[in-house]
Amino acid sequence: MPATITSIAHYFPPDVYPNSYFEQYLETSNEWIVERTGILERRFANNGATSDLIVPAAKACIEQRGLKPSDIDCIIVATVTPDHMFPATAAIVQHKLGIPRAWGFDLSAACSGFLFALVTAANIVEAGTARNVLLCGADKMSAIVDFQDRAQAVLFGDGAGVALIEMSDDEELGILDQVLYIDGEGGKYLYQAAGGSAKPASLETVQNREHYIHQEGQAVFKAAVKGMADVSLEILQRNNLTKDDIAYLVPHQANMRIISATAERMGLPLEKVMVNIDKFANTTAATIPTCLSQWWEEGKLKRGDKLILASFGAGFTWGAVYMRWSMGK
Ligand code: UT7
Repeated sequence: MPATITSIAHYFPPDVYPNSYFEQYLETSNEWIVERTGILERRFANNGATSDLIVPAAKACIEQRGLKPSDIDCIIVATVTPDHMFPATAAIVQHKLGIPRAWGFDLSAACSGFLFALVTAANIVEAGTARNVLLCGADKMSAIVDFQDRAQAVLFGDGAGVALIEMSDDEELGILDQVLYIDGEGGKYLYQAAGGSAKPASLETVQNREHYIHQEGQAVFKAAVKGMADVSLEILQRNNLTKDDIAYLVPHQANMRIISATAERMGLPLEKVMVNIDKFANTTAATIPTCLSQWWEEGKLKRGDKLILASFGAGFTWGAVYMRWSMGK
């Protein structure tokens, strides 16, 4: 039996920042942002840390499945904005949820974090090392975005998506295949320069704004358009799937133009693509699980639906997962 998603929920902080917020203090415009990215607004958490975004989503996810915190035996948090460098945000989440007996860890794969963690969680469950994995994809990007840099300030948002990973009750439904890649050659285009062991925090690093995101947008864009489409086609071919088999493409939400290019290469119309970048921008590890959760909540996902999840992000990291949705009747 494959592992599968048995419950899913999401949380976005309440405060909405429309594009006009940036027009007030940066040389930018709603038109530029909409045209170049597809983003209309995003949410920022004015209080709390990434674990505080996770907790409400995790509670809803566990409750929806009719479980108790004591039923969870592993917690994985995919994030690039952990509450602290250490201890793991997974431990903070465990403590805040009152999960009595679990192990867990954080996983750092930027925008591919949820996909990498999904495959990891599935392997853990299939190996019998855990029965219920609480899989959290969450980022408080407002903690590392340089709000003085128009080329990045407008792109990101905060949010969390949480899924439960357990064994499927049907051997044909669940997480069925994956293609995942990492290539440090692309590291120079998207990173946080300081705060790690290579460049510990100092007065100088703060003055040089090296604790914020460094992104060379065009270089990442070019690699993302190719990487995400290539891997999505690769997974279709490996599984003898055609575009007509696919209920939804669930892409990472970095830029509407990257999403459209991937859909086009796969021959999928936009109705078959989950998109929430317009309202929530790029929430990094949260984009894919929040899309899945929203579509599920709105009744647009059915048991048996064939889904391709695809991502591209810092590292570079990229990949695609083929899954058949097993929730519902
Ligand atoms: O999720 C992690 C992975 N990240 C990504 O996948 C992001 C990939 N990159 C992108 O999405 C796009 O490259 C951006 C949205 C970041 C930028 O779009 P672009 O079409 O690649 O624009 P550009 O960087 O080539 O910039 C074009 C112009 C520049 O002005 P000049 O040099 O032509 O005068 C920028 O300075 O647009 C300017 N610009 C802006 N103008 C108004 C950059 N940001 C803004 C802005 N408002 N917010």
